[in-house]
Amino acid sequence: MRSVLIANPKGGAGKTTLATNLTGHFANAGEKVTLCDLDRQQSSLRWMAFRDPAMPPVNGYFAGNQMLISLPKEPDWVVLDAPAGLQGYKLTDYLRLVDKVIIPVVPSVFDMAATEDFLASIRQEMRGRRGVVGIVAMRVDPRTRAAAMLEEFLKHFDLPILSYIRNTQNYVNVAASGLSVFDSPRSRYRRDIEQWDPVLQWLKD
Ligand SMILES: Nc1ncnc2c1ncn2[C@@H]1O[C@H](COP(=O)(O)OP(=O)(O)O)[C@@H](O)[C@H]1O
Ligand SMILES: [Mg+2]
Repeated sequence: MRSVLIANPKGGAGKTTLATNLTGHFANAGEKVTLCDLDRQQSSLRWMAFRDPAMPPVNGYFAGNQMLISLPKEPDWVVLDAPAGLQGYKLTDYLRLVDKVIIPVVPSVFDMAATEDFLASIRQEMRGRRGVVGIVAMRVDPRTRAAAMLEEFLKHFDLPILSYIRNTQNYVNVAASGLSVFDSPRSRYRRDIEQWDPVLQWLKD
């Protein structure tokens, strides 16, 4: 079993979007995947409930406020969708529990400011564990000024940008039917799937 935590203290950063699409990827790759929803709002579990049973299957459960002491061992992958505001000792415990951490960041001044302390504490906690934390730049084209600002901002934390995920209604549409860009018809989402490649590669390393 391998595990990945998707976290960012800011609501709307793209945590659930990353968690559900990643889960969809694993399911379509024939891997046993469990989506663990840590958020009281349970958006990830709602997504699962919308999912057509004829699609590649995903498991899920709600951990709620309860701190998990261990993760299920049976699946190939466990994806954890964190709530906004995950910090302090709970964050520390989850960081110890998982193999990888992905932090989605939207390159707006507000989002970056809201994420600054979080990135600083992650950096502190993860000293000596290289290659475990990666950033996904969310809703951004890498050739824009916003992307350059994000890169400049992230230099302070010495964390890699794994990929840039473009802003597209595709994510809104698939979410509404319990799907991911990795579910068929895949040809419709070719450009989006390409942007995930470096993230998937990094996770498997
Ligand atoms: N790349 C994207 N393009 C367009 N809309 C997006 C993208 N990523 C996220 N969204 C939308 O932004 C909103 C917030 O994303 P969500 O994943 O729920 O954030 P979080 O879980 O961090 O609160 C959702 O409505 C989602 O569909
Ligand atoms: Mg969410």
